[in-house]
Amino acid sequence: MRKQIAAANWKMNLTYQQAESLVDNLLALPHQLAAHQEAIFAVPFPYLTMVADKLKGKQNVYVAAQNCYTKKSGAFTGETSVEMLASIGVKHIVIGHSERREYFNETNEILAQKVDICLENNMTPIFCCGEPLSVREANEQDAFVAKQLKESLYHLSADAIQKVVIAYEPIWAIGTGKTATSQQAQDIQAFIRQQLAGQYGETVANNISILYGGSVKASNAKEIFSQPDVDGGLVGGAALIAEEFNTIINSLK
Ligand code: 13P
Repeated sequence: MRKQIAAANWKMNLTYQQAESLVDNLLALPHQLAAHQEAIFAVPFPYLTMVADKLKGKQNVYVAAQNCYTKKSGAFTGETSVEMLASIGVKHIVIGHSERREYFNETNEILAQKVDICLENNMTPIFCCGEPLSVREANEQDAFVAKQLKESLYHLSADAIQKVVIAYEPIWAIGTGKTATSQQAQDIQAFIRQQLAGQYGETVANNISILYGGSVKASNAKEIFSQPDVDGGLVGGAALIAEEFNTIINSLK
C-alpha cells in the first residue's frame, strides 16, 4: 500500500518558543502510526534541528524543509541547499507551494530543477500543484494541473517519480476556510493518478502518494482522506494547533 501522510506546513508562523510548545504538546497527545502512515512537519529553517531533536526515536515521523535552492552550493546569499538540509537529517522538502509560485516567481521549469536536486540527494520532494480560482471557475483545472505535472515531473524516470509525493492544493481553498468537497478532491486526484498511469503505467501510479491540501481540519480530515485517491493531507492553519493536527494524523487511513 502506498504511504498515507499527514504533513504539517507551518509556513512563516510561530516563534521558536511557540514552535517548541507546539511540538511538545502534540507529542504528548495519543497517536499511533501504522507502518504505511507518516507524519511530517515542514517547519521554518531555523527550527529544523530543534524539531528534529524532539522527533528523534519516533517511528514514521519526520521534519521537512519548506523550500530549497536549485544549486548545489556557492555564492547564493540567503539560499539553502539540499545538501545542507540532508546534512542535518532532513529527508523531505516541500517544493513548489503555490505561495512560492506566486510570491517568489517559481516556474514549472525552476521546480523541475528543485525536484531533480532533491532526488539527487535522496530527498523526498513533496511536490505541490493546484489551480487558482479563475481556472476552477472555467472548469479548466484538469489541463492546468496536467501541465504542472508534465513540465516539472515527466522528465523523471519511472523509478524516480515513485520517490516523489504529490500534494494537490487548489489555491482557492488555501487559508480561505473553503475546502474542496471530498468528491472534488477525489475527482482531480483520480485524474492526476490517471495522468501518471498514462505516463508511467498503473503500477507506478498506484505507488505514488497524492495528498490533498486546502483548509483541511480535524472536522473534515477523515471524510477527505477516506477518498480512494487521497493519501492524506498537507495542512496549514490547522497544523498550528496541537489537538487539531493530532486528530488529522489519527484520520489517516
Ligand atoms: P490551509 O490548511 O491553511 O488552508 O493551508 C493549506 C496549505 O497551503 C498547506 O500547504
